[in-house]
Amino acid sequence: MTAVTEGQTHPAAEGRAGTAPDPQTVFDAAVAADERIEPRDWMPDAYRASLVRQIAQHAHSEIIGMQPEANWITRAPSLRRKAILMAKVQDEAGHGLYLYSAAETLGTSREELLDKLHAGRQKYSSIFNYPTLTWADVGAIGWLVDGAAITNQVPICRCSYGPYARAMVRICKEESFHQRQGFESLLALSRGTPEQHAMAQDAVNRWWWPSLMMFGPPDDESSHSAQSMQWKIKRHSNDELRQRFVDIAVPQAEALGLTLPDPDLRWNEERGHHDFGAIDWAEFRDVLKGNGPCNDQRITQRRRAHEEGAWVRDAAAAHASKHRQNQGEAA
Ligand SMILES: [Fe+2]
Ligand SMILES: [Fe+2]
Repeated sequence: MTAVTEGQTHPAAEGRAGTAPDPQTVFDAAVAADERIEPRDWMPDAYRASLVRQIAQHAHSEIIGMQPEANWITRAPSLRRKAILMAKVQDEAGHGLYLYSAAETLGTSREELLDKLHAGRQKYSSIFNYPTLTWADVGAIGWLVDGAAITNQVPICRCSYGPYARAMVRICKEESFHQRQGFESLLALSRGTPEQHAMAQDAVNRWWWPSLMMFGPPDDESSHSAQSMQWKIKRHSNDELRQRFVDIAVPQAEALGLTLPDPDLRWNEERGHHDFGAIDWAEFRDVLKGNGPCNDQRITQRRRAHEEGAWVRDAAAAHASKHRQNQGEAA
């Protein structure tokens, strides 16, 4: 969106001769014209708050999501798998960084968001409250969880808020690498010994349903969806994206030689989509409330990592201020 300061006319609001464009009109016109809203542009308070909420939840999910997988770095079955997993977990830290930076452009500091996460006042994706019990879980997370994340996130590359949309372009490229490494890892297990195949199947059995829950509650129960779609933060409904994910996953499961744990899953010729069984929303709400198998562990570990990293933040801040001082003296 072209930056508009007070008294200027946004091109999208021209043609109303004699009336000073009110910022809401300029904003609405920009969103309607599929332009990007940038940090210095005027935006409604509720739009800003909604973006901060969504970007924060997304950023928190990236860094909490490092934990279940990092659990397997020391026990990866080969040097190659270990190197891939370390790279993936580092990517997730990077995703967190891009997203906290995107939130900062809305006037909310990373420190403030982390404080809210640690105090339990902001959420992260419920999927990361499930444990990684075997090595096959790392493959299942890559294939299903990163796969669901991509389905959710590709449309955000066209989100109306510029910094969020741009961060998402790079994130999606990396997520697609994550999805492929998960698929490839599961394929190796599925074609391995009977024990390895069973381990892969067991992981898929445990991760399938929580992956479907990643798209959020059904459309008629989703409290933020309608407004987010109006603002073009969100482009497709939860149920639409969930259906898209199921349709992509079914042939991939066949290629893997693994079964998706849903007896009601079948192709519906009329709809041109797969029908699937009912999701256990009571479980979803329970995990969301904090009663999942790993909620406490994840937050405790996050707080500890934050405390133990305090010296790094202090050192970086001291270095930056020394650097500024040196530059000032040189100038
Ligand atoms: Fe990520
Ligand atoms: Fe990822």
